[in-house]
Amino acid sequence: MNQDELKALVGRAAIEYVTPGSIVGVGTGSTANCFIDELAKIKDRIAGAVSSSAKSTERLRAHGITVLDSASVERLPIYVDGADEIDHRGHMIKGGGAALTREKIVADLADRFICIADESKLVDVLGKFPLPVEIIPMAAAQLIRRFAAMGGTARLREGVVTDNGQAILDVTGLSITDPLASEAEINQWPGVVTVGIFARHKAQVCLLGTSAGVKTLTF
Ligand code: A5P
Repeated sequence: MNQDELKALVGRAAIEYVTPGSIVGVGTGSTANCFIDELAKIKDRIAGAVSSSAKSTERLRAHGITVLDSASVERLPIYVDGADEIDHRGHMIKGGGAALTREKIVADLADRFICIADESKLVDVLGKFPLPVEIIPMAAAQLIRRFAAMGGTARLREGVVTDNGQAILDVTGLSITDPLASEAEINQWPGVVTVGIFARHKAQVCLLGTSAGVKTLTF
């Protein structure tokens, strides 16, 4: 199976976690798109979705799925999303699609984060994938210096403006051995909107697409 087939496989598998009549938290990216397409097949059995990006909202609506404002929802049973990397404890790097802030906001509403990913995303230590950080552009130069001081090389993602009107730094050269501590540290730097480390909002379940089928990891 190629990567696209593995993404489709886990997108389908995540449907089993959807409670009939519930509102579903929906992520962003090519794997989340596979889930959205599967969700469309059971759209009459759910109350709607809360979306983590303009792109996912567009795709959900194109399928005729009701998209609810996150402000109108107090709790979601599940949030389903992909990841750029996931470690063996369920910590993730996210934000390759620049939607990390809204992804974290919607994940925060959910009882369980169901990560859907192909097996290439499973790593021992986070950091090989450039860490996305949503920032306020005014702070770019000083944040680049801060990452350099911790051994990373941060670059502004050219031509990208997030759904929140902000910018993205991609940071290479980090080995994130303590994701909880790194998330807490980077998040309090002035000018950082959200760091793409999902440790406080880690996955409880990962449906990993492998050539032998879906492997379910629980954390
Ligand atoms: C979007 O901002 C990201 O967090 C995605 O969830 C992540 O990049 C995974 O995307 P793919 O499913 O396209 O690999």
